[in-house]
Amino acid sequence: MSFNIRTHTCGELREINTGKKVVLNGWVDRRRDLGGMIFIWLRDRYGITQVVFEPDLNKDAYDLAKKLRNEFVVSIEGNVRKRPDDAINKELETGRIDVLAEKLMILNEAETPPFLIKDDTDAYEDLRLKYRYLDLRRPVLQKVLILRHKMYQLTRKYFDDNRFIEVETPVLMKSTPEGARDYLVPSRIHKGKFYALPQSPQQYKQMLMVSGFDRYFQIVKCFRDEDLRADRQPEFTQIDVEMSFVTEEEVFTVVEELMKLLFKEIWNIELSLPIVRFSYEDAMTKYGSDKPDLRFGLELHRLNEVFANTEFNIFKKALSSNGIISGLVAPGCSSFSRSQIDGLTNFVKQLGAEGLVWFKVQDEGFDSPTAKFLSKDEINKLKSVINAKPNDLILILAGEIKPTLSRMGSLRLELAKKLDLNKLGTKPSLLWVTDFPLFEWDKNTKRFYAMHHPFTSPKLEDIDLLEKDPGSIKAQAYDLVLNGNEIAGGSIRIHKSDLQSKMFKALGISDEEAQQKFGFLINAFRFGAPPHGGIAFGFDRMVMLFAGVDSIRDTIAFPKTASAVSLMDDSPSPVSEEQLNELHLKIREKT
Ligand code: AMO
Repeated sequence: MSFNIRTHTCGELREINTGKKVVLNGWVDRRRDLGGMIFIWLRDRYGITQVVFEPDLNKDAYDLAKKLRNEFVVSIEGNVRKRPDDAINKELETGRIDVLAEKLMILNEAETPPFLIKDDTDAYEDLRLKYRYLDLRRPVLQKVLILRHKMYQLTRKYFDDNRFIEVETPVLMKSTPEGARDYLVPSRIHKGKFYALPQSPQQYKQMLMVSGFDRYFQIVKCFRDEDLRADRQPEFTQIDVEMSFVTEEEVFTVVEELMKLLFKEIWNIELSLPIVRFSYEDAMTKYGSDKPDLRFGLELHRLNEVFANTEFNIFKKALSSNGIISGLVAPGCSSFSRSQIDGLTNFVKQLGAEGLVWFKVQDEGFDSPTAKFLSKDEINKLKSVINAKPNDLILILAGEIKPTLSRMGSLRLELAKKLDLNKLGTKPSLLWVTDFPLFEWDKNTKRFYAMHHPFTSPKLEDIDLLEKDPGSIKAQAYDLVLNGNEIAGGSIRIHKSDLQSKMFKALGISDEEAQQKFGFLINAFRFGAPPHGGIAFGFDRMVMLFAGVDSIRDTIAFPKTASAVSLMDDSPSPVSEEQLNELHLKIREKT
């Protein structure tokens, strides 16, 4: 079928085009039949143009236009007209003109879509994901994907300009445990053997440094079989970066300049450098999180000294077991009702806290069921240390350090949400978190795990502690945090086999096991590995934040649901007996 090919897009025509004969191609966004006249909005990815059919001008086109329904694909030919002042639509960029149609061709009809294709749709996400190709017609989603495209281009150009080389690494690789669960791919040729999909190209990029590539980057898909949340997908994209002959400072500089560029190009914000840094310990103590959101205050205060001699049992118990008493001030919140405070108490209880201590600050003293347990001196000290004013609400948790701080961190976010402190429009909060512990102790398995990954270098001054006191060692590891989201993480790596062996030992991995799991990397290190380090950005999360959307699903063309299902193509799906046989697999019946 031949058809008239567009002379303009649906977002292009302006008053200056008045009188011009044009051809537009696109989808019918909506149709209004006013009896003597038919109006349609014609939509493509560039915008919407109003087209008018009048019987006097072309009866055939007018009659055909009566058949138009939403999402029909059409070609129209007509003349651009300036709209009278009272018909101008300021919400459309093309709203000062319309096109008076002389010809209409229906290029394809469409069934009634399962939901209305419009930005503020009320369709459930599951339905939208099933018909994702229709969902993607919505201008809001198109805008996000176009922004994503812009971010790819800026990123590629930035790294190219800075002498980085983009290298592709395998998607079928060796399964290396640690971190999340692997997605496995059975081998047909090698019975009983499996490839794994990369959780990240970590080992490959380190090997590229051994090969002398010096500066590598890649925009790359990663796969992790982990519990999903709004900011996690089973397959997601990283901007992966590795550099040779660098310390943390060089990595910071490269990252900061990229962020400066993105802030400018996308938000038109001049980001001033250097980006502020918090040690992990500071971030945890002040904000109860290793990814603090500093768009608002609500800082946590350590109150151990204030209550050093307290008679209040809950605090006394925390102090005697080397725990922490941590508090924050919710400004002006003494007006909270009992049920609002109960709501906060339940919130922390669900996180494992035994209870929440609260004080409403009055001109004199506190209003609280717990106030009677505090001395006058303690009340005064508390007010001054925590900087509380009349009408403020003080919230305090006491207990074991790490869980207590982390609960306070969650409480801080919950309060910010309730007080609308985390709304967009405030200045973005971008910061580094540095000096992470190298290891994390797992109570259940009674062993250390690498907090980042087992190739992360300890701080050089801490190396001697590897055998003596692994728990106290700091890593040369860093995270970049934007508005309370970890958008990148990386480290300086171990580049010597003897240190790597010590690291494995501290992790309880035997030489044999290490050789079996990571042998290729350990072997590579024997042939002249340069000092190196790098970082990986969570690209989908960055797009989510720069676009101001709530979920990374909105930044991915064809995402999976929270239960890792693709509703559109119905994957994962069963396969035929023949395919299973070829792969030497048998599905066990449920026991
Ligand atoms: P890490 O595991 O911290 O580091 O990942 C880097 C960044 O990737 C993003 N991210 C995710 N995004 C969406 N869905 C997920 N399931 C998901 N998991 C992680 C986060 C995170 O900051 N190889 C190391 C990097 C390095 O050391 O250079 C790595 O992968 O934004």
